[in-house]
Amino acid sequence: MDLKQELESLKDEVIAQINNAQDLEGLNKIRVEFLGKKGKLKSILKTLGKLSPEERKEIGQIANKLKDTLEQLIKEKETVLKEKALEQQLKNEQLDITLPSKWIKAGSSHPVISTLIEITEIFKSMGFSVKEGPEIEDEKYNFDMLNIPKDHPARDMQDTFFLNNGKVLRTHTSPVQIRTMLKQKPPISIVAPGRVYRKDADPTHSPMFHQIEGLLVDKNVTFKDLKGVLQIFLESVFGKDIPIRFRPSYFPFTEPSAEVDIGCTVCGGEGCRVCKGTGWLEILGCGMVDPNVFKAVNIDPDIYSGFAFGLGIERIAMLKYRITDIRLLFTNDIRFNKQFKGIR
Ligand code: PHE
Repeated sequence: MDLKQELESLKDEVIAQINNAQDLEGLNKIRVEFLGKKGKLKSILKTLGKLSPEERKEIGQIANKLKDTLEQLIKEKETVLKEKALEQQLKNEQLDITLPSKWIKAGSSHPVISTLIEITEIFKSMGFSVKEGPEIEDEKYNFDMLNIPKDHPARDMQDTFFLNNGKVLRTHTSPVQIRTMLKQKPPISIVAPGRVYRKDADPTHSPMFHQIEGLLVDKNVTFKDLKGVLQIFLESVFGKDIPIRFRPSYFPFTEPSAEVDIGCTVCGGEGCRVCKGTGWLEILGCGMVDPNVFKAVNIDPDIYSGFAFGLGIERIAMLKYRITDIRLLFTNDIRFNKQFKGIR
């Protein structure tokens, strides 16, 4: 077979193979096998040396043309195969956008937290701003500067968690009053929500619970202002018709002091187990800031007056949602928590 024929049959073979190539990988193999450095075309051309100059020229031209033709064919086939590959990929990765999405279960806030937020929002709407303080507190702020003397029963080992470093877990949110008044001069109107701790555990007491503290200091603040603010607050939480009464009481840091009751939300005032037959529920403590507290923070009690109040969030949440055992709020039983879905 002369070289011309060899090239001719090579051409037929390569074209047939290119036409049959199924994928890019196969096509590349063909390219290497015939047109590569060690390919069949090259090895045919190596024998050119044996030919006469005229023949060499002629065969050389044929070979070069063949090379161009084959390269062109491979290129065309490559485009076709690439398109095919892309189509296949698109097919494999096709998304059915009509499928329903996976259901993501929405969480809900804990009844204590939603109550805390709700109460905070009510006071914010009346112009109070929100302040926070540390849960690990100096005795000075938790007791002394609040006019709670060293022999006060609240300091007793029974009630207070004392820490090794001489500090305490705050027993109420009232130290935030002191911290605020040390930093800020009147007029002051703040609420301080947060966790507090007492050695206490039964169906209505938890060693950790939440309180919100209120403090308003300015010139000419009177008990009437205190009553008005608390009335708006209690009506917002329990409804416009809720009966409210103020009872004289005692707190070291307020004078005069009062406790505020609302008509029992369970029996409507007739007397039941929850209100212990009285028809009233004790809901918060309050009073006019004691002059001794003002003196401790360098505010002149002859110029300024103010009121303060503090209440337990769990108690409000329990009344609002008719929960009878405080421990239900902290056992994190998902079946219990789920019942409050959608409430705020
Ligand atoms: N700190 C008091 C308590 O924990 C509540 C209170 C706050 C009373 C402010 C009066 C004024 O019981």
